[in-house]
Amino acid sequence: MSPGFPSAVSIPLTHPLSGKIYTLARADALEGTPDEVADLIAACNEPLIYDWLFRERLEGQPYTGVQAASFFNWTRSGWQSGTHFVFALASPCGRLVGLLDIKSADPTAAEVGYWLSSKHRGLMGAALEALETLARNAGCRSLYARIRPGNGRSQAVVQRAGWVDTGLEAEGSHLRFVRQLVSA
Ligand SMILES: CC(C)(COP(=O)(O)OP(=O)(O)OC[C@H]1O[C@@H](n2cnc3c(N)ncnc32)[C@H](O)[C@@H]1OP(=O)(O)O)[C@@H](O)C(=O)NCCC(=O)NCCS
Repeated sequence: MSPGFPSAVSIPLTHPLSGKIYTLARADALEGTPDEVADLIAACNEPLIYDWLFRERLEGQPYTGVQAASFFNWTRSGWQSGTHFVFALASPCGRLVGLLDIKSADPTAAEVGYWLSSKHRGLMGAALEALETLARNAGCRSLYARIRPGNGRSQAVVQRAGWVDTGLEAEGSHLRFVRQLVSA
């Protein structure tokens, strides 16, 4: 799927609640500036994002510059090696407010992940729709999200976008939501 992504992406997204214009771009366009690092650290320590994505992984320790540096490396290496594809959401004034990723190059079914700062709530549906279009154009036939049963806000995002709940995975701790991008 990797060769199918444009080498540069800059997609304007209208925030449904504020009407302001945000931008979705490839996250390898981020340079790891002090502002970007600060935005990443602040968002990843917001309660909702930290609790769902980092508390377990970081054993309750805060998300710091160490994790931010490793995120920028992981993002660059994903695009360079074509193994995973991270996209960034920028606010109208260019601050980093959210991320979405496609976690593999498997064209038959690739997992998606995302977070959005609560200060910008309302944007993820439009961002996910843009990600679907990018993935479809890159040759991906279906996407899926693994969401814990208690994560109602994340389930609401994919449900509003029309993804299908295929039930609890065999491992028992995640629901799987699937989006077919091309008809079978
Ligand atoms: C999951 C997550 C991205 C959802 O973010 P969110 O801001 O709740 O989701 P949205 O951007 O879709 O915004 C939702 C709100 O905007 C509203 N909204 C969204 N699209 C809208 C539209 N087109 N018109 C009007 N309102 C709209 C929704 O009704 C909802 O309102 P509410 O907050 O009053 O319930 C965010 O909670 C998050 O980052 N969570 C932590 C990380 C995480 O769980 N990631 C997923 C792991 S599986």
